[in-house]
Amino acid sequence: MTRVSTFLSWLSAALLSGFNGSDHTCSEIILRVAATSQNVIFAKQPDPTNEQANLDFVADLWKGSPPELAGTTEVTGNFTLSATYCLPKSLPNPPTLQILVHGITYNKTIWSGLGFSPEKYNWHNHANTRGYATLAIDRLGHGLSSSPDLDPLLTIQPQLHLEILHQIISGARSGGLHVSLGKKFNRIIFTGHSYGSLLGAATANKYPLDIDALVLTGFSTSPNFATVAGAKWRSAPAIEPLRFGHRGHGHITMSDETERTDSSYGGRYDRAIAAADFKYGDTVTTGEFGAMFTMLTPAAGYKGPVLVVTGVDDKANCATPAEKCREILRKTGDEFFPNVRDYEFIAPQETGHNWMVHESAGATAGRVHDWLDRRVRGKVEL
Ligand SMILES: *[C@@H]1O[C@H](CO)[C@@H](O)[C@H](O)[C@H]1NC(C)=O
Ligand SMILES: *[C@@H]1O[C@H](CO)[C@@H](O)[C@H](O)[C@H]1NC(C)=O
Repeated sequence: MTRVSTFLSWLSAALLSGFNGSDHTCSEIILRVAATSQNVIFAKQPDPTNEQANLDFVADLWKGSPPELAGTTEVTGNFTLSATYCLPKSLPNPPTLQILVHGITYNKTIWSGLGFSPEKYNWHNHANTRGYATLAIDRLGHGLSSSPDLDPLLTIQPQLHLEILHQIISGARSGGLHVSLGKKFNRIIFTGHSYGSLLGAATANKYPLDIDALVLTGFSTSPNFATVAGAKWRSAPAIEPLRFGHRGHGHITMSDETERTDSSYGGRYDRAIAAADFKYGDTVTTGEFGAMFTMLTPAAGYKGPVLVVTGVDDKANCATPAEKCREILRKTGDEFFPNVRDYEFIAPQETGHNWMVHESAGATAGRVHDWLDRRVRGKVEL
């Protein structure tokens, strides 16, 4: 054998062992992030001790009247975030990190398939198998990143999420999150779901150099909030005092299982997942809902690659038949990313809003990582 072919066979063996197994190591970590944001002040603020007042505040939004604003206020602090951090076992120094950001009424566990069949539904597993490191955060106020001293109306707003994400990305690039991540990353992929996608587009707009590729899922610019708006929302501590007694009435959630399943599932999925999804659902804050409309502006500042992944049966973001969904996703690129040349979308069939826990998840994971491999990872740095 010549030297070159020895090298090549060694390389292909390394690639095979690196990327074909489902071998990865995950750890639960804590990120301490110093961040400052300009949060919005609402002209009329619901009484935090009154459940109905908080529900009314949100109901007005759905009726098409976003709350009136009365300026902004600086929020600053050191925030403690919980995250799941996974590395491919056979590629200890992956150059690229995917930051996974969940939507409202979910937390980081959606990226672990809510604990169901890891080979099918665990996004870390899919990504790590393809050589990407993953970091799924619990956004402030969600999962284990929640604490009673965080004001759900005035503090937990998208503006602050965005600055925290910017700090996490900067830290991952510079090694500033060294204590927790143990390494620096050369490339960052922002992978969002639903509200997390909105934050991804906003981050790309405000901090275009933060992101090498944007994967926005459960997302479009033609949202249809009918199912969500008509749903029976309740304050989380009122209906689930054991789990959410420490959160105020400004944390709300869906109280009806059929409505929840309808809004997040469609097509082919395991009913047991939808049942667990309802039983263990997380919350959304009045501040996240109230300030959401300030994030609905096109990401004109961003020019990098964008992939949108939205199921055909995602009632809030697409429409059947498939061709109609594709039309919506085509328009989403034109409307939201006017300066992006490399825009593509995937519209998995028989798939609802929580696409990563539907039957099509494995096939979608393959397509997303094929797309990423061509753009971001490029040459593997062994
Ligand atoms: C955050 O922590 C750092 C280091 O302990 C400290 O210097 C800084 O003043 C803190 N910032 C805020 C806003 O509390
Ligand atoms: C995060 O979500 C999971 C799955 O839905 C749930 O079991 C868990 O209780 C949530 N965590 C918190 C702290 O609410």
